[in-house]
Amino acid sequence: MVSSPIQQAAALLKQGEVVVIPTETVYGLAADACNNQAVSRIYEIKGRPRFNPLIIHVSSIEMAQSYAIFSPLALLLTEQFWIQEKRSLTLVLPKKGGHLSSLVTAGLETVAVRLPQHSIALEIIKACGFPLAAPSANLSEQVSPTSSLAVGQSLKDKTPFLVEGGDCKIGLESTILDVSRDVPLLLRPGECTKEELEKLLKTTIFLPSSYDPVRAPGMMKRHYAPDLPMRLNVLEPHPKEFFITFGPPSCEHPYTRSLSISGDLCEAAANLFAILNETSQFQEICTGIAVMPIPNESIGMAINDRLKRASMFGG
Ligand code: TXA
Ligand code: MG
Repeated sequence: MVSSPIQQAAALLKQGEVVVIPTETVYGLAADACNNQAVSRIYEIKGRPRFNPLIIHVSSIEMAQSYAIFSPLALLLTEQFWIQEKRSLTLVLPKKGGHLSSLVTAGLETVAVRLPQHSIALEIIKACGFPLAAPSANLSEQVSPTSSLAVGQSLKDKTPFLVEGGDCKIGLESTILDVSRDVPLLLRPGECTKEELEKLLKTTIFLPSSYDPVRAPGMMKRHYAPDLPMRLNVLEPHPKEFFITFGPPSCEHPYTRSLSISGDLCEAAANLFAILNETSQFQEICTGIAVMPIPNESIGMAINDRLKRASMFGG
């Protein structure tokens, strides 16, 4: 009998192989989070610096509790956002037991845990029975892939077995909230917004005040860099710039892509990485990328965060 892609993926993962899995945020490069050698293959494929820790993906709160210590506040967050609302929230928690590969936590006393809201990802994890370490399935410093095509474009002949799951619904990586200490810290904005988290927790959530490579390594400045230099908050692009717009078209420009013509921030988030990826095809033709202002509210905060980091490095 021919086994399904999900069964094939689980079998490979059990053998210590790396597999590309779809999630609702972006495609992930997954391996057994308890197998050091398997996890080291992720770093090898991505060309990723070793100090950057990985998120473990679980299929239930019970599985998560074997690897991380959940405070009542952390349980409240998982009940609300993982189970009830099915949102893309990663929690940084104190780690528990010695099962995880030390490469996953990069020597930290905490671990980042997430329940993906994608049936294929959940079925693969369930079939494995262990959590999967999975960074986005792209080479280090490139934008995260939101389709299997984008995975192939980034990893090329290094692409391992890939489970097709269509386009990612959210299109931006998960929100990362650090609740391992007394003060909750928003390490990475995402689909689950600061306002929503504050409303449930009835407390102020802080942003990491400055770039801190240990506490918020995802803030690595080249993390989202496209190949061309990028300017933000531009209303009038230069003639040879690739123009990324938001809202109804305001001017005629030869190289234009709209994040959302209707001005919908969720649609813009889902399109962001695909459009940033697309700019690489204009390297020879365009001199740079210009981006229209994006409202800095709800998921727009996450979009602006990614754009700001992409614009810090160019060319
Ligand atoms: O949506 C997502 O979260 C995707 C999909 C594949 O699940 N994954 C993802 O993983 O974006 P990655 O490895 O590209 O980003 C994980 C981020 C990194 O910035 C890492 O530094 C941070 O999580 N991180 C992981 N463990 C941490 C910890 N213990 N403390 C602080 N930050 C941590
Ligand atoms: Mg990434």
